[in-house]
Amino acid sequence: MPTIHLKTEIPGPRSRELNEVRHEHVSPGPFHTTPVIASHAKGSVVTDVDGNSFLDFSSGIGVTNLGHRDEAVMRAVAEQAEKFVHTSINVVAYEGYIRLAERLNALLPKAAPCKTFLANSGAEAVENAVKFARVKTGRQAVIAFEHGYHGRTYMAMALTAKAHPYKSGFAPFPAEVYRAPYPDFYRWPGVQGDPGGCPQVSTCPLERCFCQEVFNSFAEIARGQIGEQNVAAVIIEPVAGEGGFVPAPAPFLKMLRRWCDEHGVVLIFDEVQTGFGRTGSLLACHQLDVTPDLVVMAKGLANGLPLSAVTGRAEVVDAVGLGGVGGTYCGNPLACAASHAVLDRFEDPAVLAHACHIGEVLRHRLEAFAKRFPCVGQTRGLGPMRAIELVTDQGTKQPNKAATQAVVQYAYEHGLILMACGTHGNVLRFLVPLTMNDEELNEGLAVVEDALASLE
Ligand SMILES: Cc1ncc(COP(=O)(O)O)c(C=O)c1O
Repeated sequence: MPTIHLKTEIPGPRSRELNEVRHEHVSPGPFHTTPVIASHAKGSVVTDVDGNSFLDFSSGIGVTNLGHRDEAVMRAVAEQAEKFVHTSINVVAYEGYIRLAERLNALLPKAAPCKTFLANSGAEAVENAVKFARVKTGRQAVIAFEHGYHGRTYMAMALTAKAHPYKSGFAPFPAEVYRAPYPDFYRWPGVQGDPGGCPQVSTCPLERCFCQEVFNSFAEIARGQIGEQNVAAVIIEPVAGEGGFVPAPAPFLKMLRRWCDEHGVVLIFDEVQTGFGRTGSLLACHQLDVTPDLVVMAKGLANGLPLSAVTGRAEVVDAVGLGGVGGTYCGNPLACAASHAVLDRFEDPAVLAHACHIGEVLRHRLEAFAKRFPCVGQTRGLGPMRAIELVTDQGTKQPNKAATQAVVQYAYEHGLILMACGTHGNVLRFLVPLTMNDEELNEGLAVVEDALASLE
C-alpha cells in the first residue's frame, strides 16, 4: 500500500488560504521548502490540512529519528505533563533533568568523568560549548571549518561557513573565529573525478593522503594566523550536515584529537545532526573511535521536543562559575521526559540495526543512481546519513543547483518531502526517519529516481 496519497492539487485550498495568512503575519525569514500546512503526522507520513499524505524524507531536518509521534516518547511527555511542565532548573530542580545528565554523561565513557548542561536548541548549545572552552582555557580563538553549520545565533552564525542566506546582512560577527578547510576530498585542489572516501586503513592505497594534506593546512592556519597558544577550541561536525553531508574520516579526526591534546585545546564535536542514530551509531564519534572533550547534541535528542545538550569532560564543564550559564527554559521537563524515552528506545539494539539497514539500502540505490545519471557527481555519507551531489559535468564538477531544486520540486509535487543542502546548494540529502520500513523507503526512492530521470 503506497503511503503517498495526494487528494487535491498541492498546495490544496486550505494550505493556500493559510499560506496567505502566513505571508501577511509571519516573518518571511524561515524557509518553507514543502509549502503545505501540516495537520498531523505519524511514523514516516505527514498529512496536510487538505488531507494529502506526504512521505517524509526530512524528519523535520533530522529530528524525528524515531518517526513522528513515537508512542513511547508521546507517553513519556503526556505523563510528565500530568505532573508539571515548568519550574526552571535555575529555581527548582527536577529528577528528569538530573537523571538525563547522568545518562548523557555515560555516552562518553572515555572522557569520564563527564558533566552535562542542557539548553533548548542546537545553536544555544554551541554557544555554551564555546563559553565552557574559553573559560577553561582562558583563551579566545575558535577554529571552525569550511562547510560547517552551527546555527543562527551570533556565535553559532560566526562559526557557520556559508554566507548566504545564513549570514548575509547580519554582520558584524563575534571576533576570534577562524576557518580551516574541511576534508572534502571531492573538491580538494587538484583532485580529478571522485576519489571516494578515506579508506581508513593503515596502508592507504590512495596516492595522496588527503587527511594529512587537510590536517597540514589546518595546523598551518593555527600556527601562522592564530598561534596555537591562543586557541581555545576546535569545533567540527563529524559529518558536515547543512554543508553537504560530507563525512570527516576518522584518521583526520584523530589528527585533530592529537593536535588538541598537544596544545591544550578543547575539541568540540557538533553532533546536533549526526546524533541519535543518524549515522548508524548513537553518536557518530562512537563508530569513529575519537572522543571529543565536549559533544553538542540536539535534534534527535528528544525526537521533536526542543532540547539540546553540551556533554563532556567535567573539568571543562566545571570551569564555569555559579550562574555563568543558564536560561529560563533550559532542560524543560517535557523535553527531558521525551529524551529519556528516546534513550530507552535506543537501548533496543534493533533500533540502530534498522538504521544501519536503511543506510545500506540508501547506499545501494544512490550508487545505482550515480551510475545511471551523469548529473550525480558523488554519492556519500555515513550510515543512513546519505546524500548525492549534483553537477553539470562530472569532469568540471560545476555544482548543479538548478537540477537539485528541480528534483526537490518534483518530489514535492509527487508527495515526497525531500531537502537539499550543501555549500553550493547542489546536494540532495536523505534524512529519513530511522524507523522507516523498506516499502516506504523504496516508494520514496522511486520518486527520486523518476525526478532524476525527468531532468534528462
Ligand atoms: C550541525 C548543526 N549544529 C547546529 C545546528 C543548529 O541547531 P538549531 O537549529 O537547533 O539551533 C544545526 C541545525 O541544523 C546543525 O545541523
